[in-house]
Amino acid sequence: MPVITNIDDLKRIYKRRTPKMFYDYAESGSWTEQTFRENTSDFDKLYLRQRIAVDMTGRSTASQLVGQDVSMPVALAPVGLTGMQCADGEIKAARAAEKFGVPFTLSTMSICSIEDVAENTEKPFWFQVYTLKDDDFMRRLFDRAKAAKCSALVITVDLQIMGQRHKDIRNGLSAPPKLTPKSVANMMTKVQWGLGMLGTKRRTFGNVVGHAKGVDATGSLSAWTSQAFDHALDWERIKEFRKWWDGPVILKGILDVEDARKALDVGADAIVVSNHGGRQLDGAISSIRALPEILDAVGDKIEVHLDSGIRSGQDVLKALAMGAKGTMIGRAFVYGLGAMGEAGVTAALEVIHKELDTTMALCGERDVKNLGRHNLLVPKGFSGEWE
Ligand code: GLV
Repeated sequence: MPVITNIDDLKRIYKRRTPKMFYDYAESGSWTEQTFRENTSDFDKLYLRQRIAVDMTGRSTASQLVGQDVSMPVALAPVGLTGMQCADGEIKAARAAEKFGVPFTLSTMSICSIEDVAENTEKPFWFQVYTLKDDDFMRRLFDRAKAAKCSALVITVDLQIMGQRHKDIRNGLSAPPKLTPKSVANMMTKVQWGLGMLGTKRRTFGNVVGHAKGVDATGSLSAWTSQAFDHALDWERIKEFRKWWDGPVILKGILDVEDARKALDVGADAIVVSNHGGRQLDGAISSIRALPEILDAVGDKIEVHLDSGIRSGQDVLKALAMGAKGTMIGRAFVYGLGAMGEAGVTAALEVIHKELDTTMALCGERDVKNLGRHNLLVPKGFSGEWE
């Protein structure tokens, strides 16, 4: 087992072991990728306040997200095509998450289906909803998530249409992957990945293909999402979804104060401040910069989480110290999964936990729930000072 000291170590192995098409899918933002880059570089603009001679014994990263106990406030974000990064990837990631005591979120666009993941795990997971035009499918999707005892519903509200990601178009991204001389030549060099894929039947969108009208897996990803996704999704529809689900509802993809207020109005339990990892509206601000204003507006009335740009436990700490109650990681766990399957996701979680715990100690904090703005030096104009 290679020595893993940080998330970048996992990313290097992931890049070596995964077909280019799927590496590129994870490792890209839309258009110029400005927002994708700034999601991470804006974290570097926040400084930590070092405190000394504080008793560091008995530290705890345990917290609660939407009323559920977690060993640290980090959930695995819904990531489409996770089962193409590694055979049966969603099941492996869900298992790593449940052992670690953090939530796993299954994407509508997963390869393993809701039923597959439920049968192969012990604890409830969260389910993420994309809105397809086929209404019968949507009702059944909610019923399937209920039958699988999913413990929260994450509704993604920033992707009725997909932001253009140049690399995916060039690669002709699809699941199962399109076999061209170039993609086959590349896949043949990824032995571990190929053996895994030969050993599983799960190679297409398990929640959707065979369940939703007019969706097959033969088109490119962007072609079928643009055909099948409901471009008309609006707040009324979100309100309806709220009524269909008894448990916690989390709206993911809020970047604007006005939308955060609307999320409150429709009765969401939590929001995720997110720009979809820089994959949707390029030119939007980073999530960490959007966070303070949103917290000022709704932070005392709704649970606020953050994703986009988190690659370390220090980033987690910064988001929490800014005021988020929880965080989500996407790419950071996908790197681990593509590198080493379930063990790699566990390694990613361990790295992040250790970085969070050590940083807490060096900031003079023993309890993750006590983190706050007093732990940070935030540059003037970091957030909310727009013309
Ligand atoms: C889907 O959620 C994507 O960002 O590709």
